[in-house]
Amino acid sequence: MSLSQMARSIRESVTLKLNQTAAQLRDKGEPVIHLGGGEPKSKTPIDAIVSCTSVLNSGDIKYTPPDGIPALKRAILRYTEDHYARAVRPENVVVSCGAKQAIMAALISILDPKDEVIYPVPYWVSYPEMVKLAGGVPVGVKAEDGTFCPTAAEMAAAVGPYTKAIILNSPNNPSGVMYSRDFVAEIVELCRKKSLWLIMDDTYNRLVFDGRPPINCYDFSPEDVDLSRLVVINCVSKMYAMTGFRVGWAVASKDLAQAMATIQGQQTSGTATPSQWAAVGALNGVQNSIEALRLTLENNRNILMDRFSAFPGVRVTKPDGAFYCFPDFSNYQKDSQKLAEFLLERVRVVTVPGKEFGMEGHLRISFCGTIKEITEGLERIRWALDPTAPNEIYLGGRRLVRDWM
Ligand SMILES: Cc1ncc(COP(=O)(O)O)c(C=O)c1O
Repeated sequence: MSLSQMARSIRESVTLKLNQTAAQLRDKGEPVIHLGGGEPKSKTPIDAIVSCTSVLNSGDIKYTPPDGIPALKRAILRYTEDHYARAVRPENVVVSCGAKQAIMAALISILDPKDEVIYPVPYWVSYPEMVKLAGGVPVGVKAEDGTFCPTAAEMAAAVGPYTKAIILNSPNNPSGVMYSRDFVAEIVELCRKKSLWLIMDDTYNRLVFDGRPPINCYDFSPEDVDLSRLVVINCVSKMYAMTGFRVGWAVASKDLAQAMATIQGQQTSGTATPSQWAAVGALNGVQNSIEALRLTLENNRNILMDRFSAFPGVRVTKPDGAFYCFPDFSNYQKDSQKLAEFLLERVRVVTVPGKEFGMEGHLRISFCGTIKEITEGLERIRWALDPTAPNEIYLGGRRLVRDWM
């Protein structure tokens, strides 16, 4: 069978694959703890369900415009005003099938073959593959000091004649760190000076801890949105725990939004009608579910950090938001793929190898599950790796004795 070069060059989504592996093991009755996931446990907000079911009950479910139904665009305009203090027009908004499609459509709209896209390391697993799918060349920028935040000067040093765009994701998947206001301001300025597109992936923007306010990139971009190269991405997936609805959006200049809509019109047509109405319900409805989720995640983060403090040899950076932590396990095993496989095989805990996010020696650990999953998962990991941990453990009712150290 002859597949295209493109098809052969694109890697499978590791996180989606891990979801499948975890589900298959669970189906076989294995006591799997999934610390590799990327979706909150909470239920869809009731306003989203009511809005979605009322359109379903009407039985009138037809094609929609490729850039979104007017009711959802109106809700997004209000969201942008409320949370970014920026008034934009319906022609600046493109509704997509999740944040993923919004980023993809933006990349296809701005990249010519071999154009480069820069982003900090560690990065969300999909960025390199998405850039490649759009014909571009992905360029990760590592912080010299070993932290998860390169400096603006390090980012600027990576800009070359082929650079077309920068992507920032803060709070970040996989590290949970939020870049500083100064860093975001400097990157907005760098993009303005060098005429680069800046894709702000604000997927986790509302899920920030320790009383810190989310950072608003428009604060540093005084020009009208139609004159700017700033593209702000959001979605209902994480903040409303509505991953399965597949609704995201971009706010961008009218020209870019038009190009993205044209691409989506040929690619998928408009996002599924019931999902868009669910998003209208979520955005226009009672908003307390976001704060409830944020508080739950902050509490989970605190418990996770507390457990890590009793885990010698693991270096952990405290997450500022989202629901991921990216500890450095290289004192135990430098090859993150081997380590993740070992943990799955020995103690049935799913984690994601750091290598997938551009940093070896780390594992991505999600804390969007229950407290029981987080504490037991970490206890199992510690038991598997730390010689000072108790020598036996109960796994799904089975007593295990450690015999590999
Ligand atoms: C940083 C980041 N951006 C975008 C997405 C995709 O969001 P959606 O499910 O809305 O496509 C994810 C999902 O994990 C993410 O972590």
